[in-house]
Amino acid sequence: MTTKPTTLRLRHLDKVINGLRTSDGAGVKLKRIISPTPSNAFDPFLLLDEFASDEAADYIGGFPDHPHRGFETVTYMLAGAMLHRDHLGNQGHLRAGDVQWMTAAHGIIHSEMPEQEDGLLQGFQLWINLPASEKMKPPHYQDIAAADIPKVDLTAGGYIKVIAGDYVGADGTVTTGAVAGVSTQPVYFDIVLSPGQQLSIPVALAHTAVIYVYEGRVTADTDNGVLIAGQLGQLVAGDGIVLSTGDTSAKLLLLAAQPIGEPVVQAGPFVMNTTAEIEQAFRDYRDGVLAV
Ligand code: CO
Repeated sequence: MTTKPTTLRLRHLDKVINGLRTSDGAGVKLKRIISPTPSNAFDPFLLLDEFASDEAADYIGGFPDHPHRGFETVTYMLAGAMLHRDHLGNQGHLRAGDVQWMTAAHGIIHSEMPEQEDGLLQGFQLWINLPASEKMKPPHYQDIAAADIPKVDLTAGGYIKVIAGDYVGADGTVTTGAVAGVSTQPVYFDIVLSPGQQLSIPVALAHTAVIYVYEGRVTADTDNGVLIAGQLGQLVAGDGIVLSTGDTSAKLLLLAAQPIGEPVVQAGPFVMNTTAEIEQAFRDYRDGVLAV
């Protein structure tokens, strides 16, 4: 399918934040880039973590059994292997390039454990909020193998892995992502650019859009707004973005989605609209009915 290319009104780089080193689960060392806040600046994105280490001590404890309610978690592995298990006996082995898109909704209790004792473990976990109307739906999984994620090789070098959303190329060719049917219409692209490359990508005008650079550096607007590895930048006002590289290559995630615009109340692994709903989640977890 193709659409007629039009001139894009390019977004500019606004807020830039640096990932903070922290630990979560059973002592897994990670870089937290987006963390849940009442202001919810990146609506509907609630959290973005990057884990990357070749030291077993940094990750071996994994994330033992813990609950979630009210949102989606997206795990994308770049290297290593992770075993996922939930309270219903569902099990998935995530390996390099694989994605697990888990809609926790009403509730799940799961563990996410490294399946290796040495070697590099690298990946991302993103939390995407759900609208009130979907927070109490049954949970749902989409496990996507690396081979099933469309990859677009760019003529000037580099490539885009289209995990979710549509990528519209310069000639109007549309590549549809592996994940569909999510009401916030998320875009999740893993983009690798060669040195000296420029790439324009259409983004829906109403969407929140952020770039997270995990290797190298990239210029993310036409005003010399530069992001280096470990930085996330929000791109605002427009229906397209332009990325360019200098002497070095760059690896980055482009995340975009329709904001939900509802109140966000978060406590640990629960994200709801009101304090009463959070209290209910804790009661349901205690009573064994959060995840049934
Ligand atoms: Co989890």
